Amino acid sequence: MLSTEDNELLCRVGKGTPMGELMRLYWIPCLPSREFPEPDSPAKRMMLLGENFVMFRDTEGRMGAVAEACPHRGASMYFARVEDGGIRCQYHGWKFDTEGTIVDLPTERSDSRACQHLMDTVQIRAYPCHEVNHMIWVYLGDGDPPPFPDFEINTIPGDQVQHPAIMMEEANWVQNLEGDLDSVHLNWLHRRLEADSPAPPLGLRGFWSPDPEPPMLDVERTEYGAYYTSQRAWKDDKTWHRINQFIFPFHTMISVGPTINLRSFVPLDDTHAMLISQSGNPMGPMPEIMAFREDDPFGEVGGYLPRTNDPRSYFMTAANKTNDYHRDLEVEKTLMHCGIPFVLNLQDRAMTELMCDADGVPLYDRTGEHLGSTDAFVIAVRAQLIAAARHLRDTGQPPANLHDVSLDRVRAASILLDSDVDWRAHSKLARSADSGNPPSDDLPLIID
Ligand code: FES
Ligand SMILES: [Fe+2]
Repeated sequence: MLSTEDNELLCRVGKGTPMGELMRLYWIPCLPSREFPEPDSPAKRMMLLGENFVMFRDTEGRMGAVAEACPHRGASMYFARVEDGGIRCQYHGWKFDTEGTIVDLPTERSDSRACQHLMDTVQIRAYPCHEVNHMIWVYLGDGDPPPFPDFEINTIPGDQVQHPAIMMEEANWVQNLEGDLDSVHLNWLHRRLEADSPAPPLGLRGFWSPDPEPPMLDVERTEYGAYYTSQRAWKDDKTWHRINQFIFPFHTMISVGPTINLRSFVPLDDTHAMLISQSGNPMGPMPEIMAFREDDPFGEVGGYLPRTNDPRSYFMTAANKTNDYHRDLEVEKTLMHCGIPFVLNLQDRAMTELMCDADGVPLYDRTGEHLGSTDAFVIAVRAQLIAAARHLRDTGQPPANLHDVSLDRVRAASILLDSDVDWRAHSKLARSADSGNPPSDDLPLIID
């Protein structure tokens, strides 16, 4: 449970809010490279943290992101022409490069003082972009950006990294994130009805816990965020540890199989967030078992809906709250605890997207909830986020991983340990992205 004040501080990300200012310090994953397939691809609207901007790829293939309003008289740069090394406003032809510098100002005579003055003093707000492994990241803050995040997904060869799978969630980013912090819901939301229940016609076969008891959570808070284990009893006096990560400001890594991953809960505004998920194999090509159609990860449940030019319409799936996420009640009777197809985070989204405040706004009011021991990681991550945003507001000091990107070199892990050992010490190598070992997955998410 949170006070109204803490809930507001945790959830709101607009300019000037403590959490919004924290996020603006970081590089933010934004759109997949495939959205701009070639040089001079048409501009697209985008929105992050409530700020509207326009993205484009210039003639040299560089990505640019500029404020939507043209600094001349405010026409939308969405309609601008992307040409000849820059982006040219349709209205009166002012042209800017990816740095935001005016490179042509055809409304003034080139030898005039007015032209020189405007060229010297006017810029369009440009957001730095960084493209790596099929993903474009953007920096929304002031001044120079920090070092680029050193997540393993950004540093292994691009052909070993899956293209991003993205799902829009029409709800506040925190309730979406919290779905990744809560291992006990595997025992319910994602489970199959019986140990031998086969896979349903659509989606994954359900999870099955070897332990009839709920998992025991143990949390470690860190300077980059937090990690935890959820412990389930396994045979021969072994304990199964699923160890998952939270990294400031909105990233997680969860153990799902023989791959590494990065999952980012990226707010467009206070009631829309993308879950951007990328997996990779540091040892070679992606395992077949983890493959899905890269441009259509929700293909088996109807894919994406057609878009409008509003970024909040991007990555909206055909299975959604208006049609009960394609819930199949027959599957629910015979095979799975939940009849919504177990495809990426669709089941999770059904649980979190309808959470709301008293007015029906999908920004969950946490003043009336009742938390228990299996919510330990949710509690810890909220506390870390609130403390980090307050600390930044009060002292100007950001979390350590903003500048020390070596702290990003972590992994999720799924390992079996003797029941009486110190799991923190024994999982140290498995939690490191620099061990040289394959990802640890002694037990996969779906146990046969
Ligand atoms: S409004 Fe863009 S050039 Fe005039
Ligand atoms: Fe889940």
